[in-house]
Amino acid sequence: MRAEDVRTVAVVGCGLMGSGIVEVCARAGARVVYLEPTEELVEAGRRRIEGSLGRAVERGKLTEDERDAVLARIAGTTDPDDLAEADLAIEAATEDRAIKLDVFRRLDGALRPEAILASNTSSIPIVELAAATRRPDRVLGMHFFNPVPVMGLVELVRAITTSEETMAFGRAFAARLGKTSVESRDRAGFIVNALLLPYLLDAVRMLEQGFASREDIDAAIRLGLNHPMGPLELIDLIGVDTTLAIAEVLHDEFREPRYAPPPLLRRMVAAGHLGRKAGRGFYEYR
Ligand SMILES: NC(=O)c1ccc[n+]([C@@H]2O[C@H](COP(=O)([O-])OP(=O)(O)OC[C@H]3O[C@@H](n4cnc5c(N)ncnc54)[C@H](O)[C@@H]3O)[C@@H](O)[C@H]2O)c1
Repeated sequence: MRAEDVRTVAVVGCGLMGSGIVEVCARAGARVVYLEPTEELVEAGRRRIEGSLGRAVERGKLTEDERDAVLARIAGTTDPDDLAEADLAIEAATEDRAIKLDVFRRLDGALRPEAILASNTSSIPIVELAAATRRPDRVLGMHFFNPVPVMGLVELVRAITTSEETMAFGRAFAARLGKTSVESRDRAGFIVNALLLPYLLDAVRMLEQGFASREDIDAAIRLGLNHPMGPLELIDLIGVDTTLAIAEVLHDEFREPRYAPPPLLRRMVAAGHLGRKAGRGFYEYR
C-alpha cells in the first residue's frame, strides 16, 4: 500500500481526536468513513467536524466551497461493515484496552488483508493491538496531537512486529496530511510524553515543597524559556486527572522515580480539581 493510493480512510471513534483525524484526512483528499457506537454519537461527531471546519473558514484557512467539498467526502456510521472499503484505518476510540482490542479484531476481520491499521493510543502498547490481528506487520501507532488540524506533529510508533514498509507508509501518509512525523519505539510515552512528564511532575514537586509560587513557576518558564505556557498552566489544560493517568502509565513501564506522581496530584484529583475543564486546578477558571 502506498500513501498516495489511499482513497478511503476509516476512523474509529469521532471524539476530540477522532474528529480532528477525520478532518485532516478529508482535507487531504481522502474519502473518510467514521464509526461511533450510536447514531447520537455519529451526529455529535459530525457537529464537532462542522464546528472545526467553520472556524477554519472564519480564519480564512478554507473557502466555503472547500469546506462543502470536504464535508461531502465524510460519512459517519454505526455499522463496522461500512468500513470494509478502507485502505487505512485509524483507531481513536476511548483509551480502554478491552475496547481497542475488540476494535482491532473487528477491523482485521472487515478490511482487506493489505489494508493498514493504526492506533492513536497514548498508552497501550501497539504490539498488543497488532497481536490481536492476523496482520501484525501492518499495524503501527500514529499518535496525533490536540487540536489535530492545528498541530504539526505525528509520532509514528514501531511495534516489534511492524514492518519497514508499514513505517514507510506511515511517514508518507503523515506527509500527505501535511504533518511532520517522528519515529519512536513502542515504549510508554513515545518521545513527547516521556520527556514532558518528568518536567511537569517536577513543577508540581517544586510547588509542593514551597520552592516557589505557582505564578512564579509558570512565569519563569513562560518568560525565561519562551514557552507559550508554564508547566502548571499546561497541566490544567491537559487535565490534572489525565496528567496523573499518563504519569502512572510511565511509572508502571519504567519504574523510575522521575515518573512517580507526586501526592499533590492525587489529592487534587480526589478533590475534583481537574483543571480548566472542572473550573479549578492549580488556578481557578470561570
Ligand atoms: N486527548 C488528547 O489530547 C489525546 C492526544 C493523543 C492521543 N489521544 C488518544 O486518542 C484516543 C481518543 O481520545 P479522545 O481524547 O479523542 O477521547 P474522546 O472521549 O473524546 O473520544 C473517544 C470516542 O470514541 C468513541 N468510542 C468508544 N468506543 C467505541 C467503539 N467501540 N467504536 C467506535 N467508537 C467508539 C466514543 O464514543 C468517543 O466519541 C485515546 O486513545 C487517547 O489516548 C488523546
